Amino acid sequence: MKRILTGVKPTGYAHVGNYFGAIKPAIELTKQQDTECFYFIADYHALTTLNNKQEMQDYTYDIACTWLACGVDPNKVVFYKQSDIPETFELNWILCNVTPKGLMNRAHAYKACVEKNEMANVDRDAGVNMGLYNYPILMAADILLFDTDYVPVGLDQKQHVEIARDIANYFNKKYGETLKEPEDIIQKETATLVGLDGRKMSKSYGNIIGLFTTEEQLRKSINKIVTDSRMPGEPKDTDCALFKLYSLFAGEEKSKEFAKKLQEGLGWGEAKKQLFEVANEFLKPMREKYFYYQTHRDEVDKILADGAIKARMIAKKTLSKVRKAIGV
Ligand code: ADP
Ligand code: TRP
Repeated sequence: MKRILTGVKPTGYAHVGNYFGAIKPAIELTKQQDTECFYFIADYHALTTLNNKQEMQDYTYDIACTWLACGVDPNKVVFYKQSDIPETFELNWILCNVTPKGLMNRAHAYKACVEKNEMANVDRDAGVNMGLYNYPILMAADILLFDTDYVPVGLDQKQHVEIARDIANYFNKKYGETLKEPEDIIQKETATLVGLDGRKMSKSYGNIIGLFTTEEQLRKSINKIVTDSRMPGEPKDTDCALFKLYSLFAGEEKSKEFAKKLQEGLGWGEAKKQLFEVANEFLKPMREKYFYYQTHRDEVDKILADGAIKARMIAKKTLSKVRKAIGV
């Protein structure tokens, strides 16, 4: 049995890029026989960007409902909220004491802030709080608390998993073999999905196609996809955001036909209609589940509370091993 763990920050509503890049591959891992999956909502990590109670609650439910709607089975996956696991924060403090400050200075999010400040000729630590600075240690606590073997993440999180491994190693050198050293799993085949304007689809660029919007909003978003100026009748390229999205939603067979139609001169307007049809068909059953959970939040609370109970049984064991190792 291999233990797989990953966390998602509740910092905005889920989009189609999140689905194909992170949610779908993570759900596929839960269907493998030799895996035991721990998926959680990293709400305390979101504090580095959120400071509004309503947003924290809305985005937390959005992630919970999204993952449940997309196929997380709470009977197979331990699905919980980081803030429900107090052991995380105790381990976090212990890990702070084996982590060299220099390691945090090299962490990419902090380094990027420093570089920006230096360019702007202001204090190098301007706008940096200790939550941001210690972010990778909290992430290491999330991971190491569960004796995790593998952490599926996007490329941007690779360094954080490496830091978790380094921290486990520092701890083990000091106190003897106690913590498992995790490895990342980077999904290579999931190329970065582009957004409406041709840049990476991202909440921070405002170019997303929301995963669970209404049909009308989905249609509107699709209509905003930037295309070139070729007219109906002119052959079109398949090397574009519109085709990439179509192929993700429709699968290989149908997208071959679609490619042929584009090469034969299908107009962009008609192409967008056809993309809407396949996207809507794909998302509809999941959307229904999503809105079901959004309107039955007590069920979601119960699932997360049960997940926390299961998670804490393991967390307590690891923490007790760690406390013993350090002599408290
Ligand atoms: P955003 O850029 O919208 O803020 P996050 O950083 O919260 O998204 O990403 C959450 C997960 O979704 C990560 O695992 C990330 O790799 C994946 N992801 C985000 N945007 C895309 C995209 N455009 N294409 C593929 N995967 C993505
Ligand atoms: N830092 C991750 C992100 O921004 C979220 C996260 C928090 C995480 N703790 C984790 C991911 C533990 C994997 C494992 O996307």
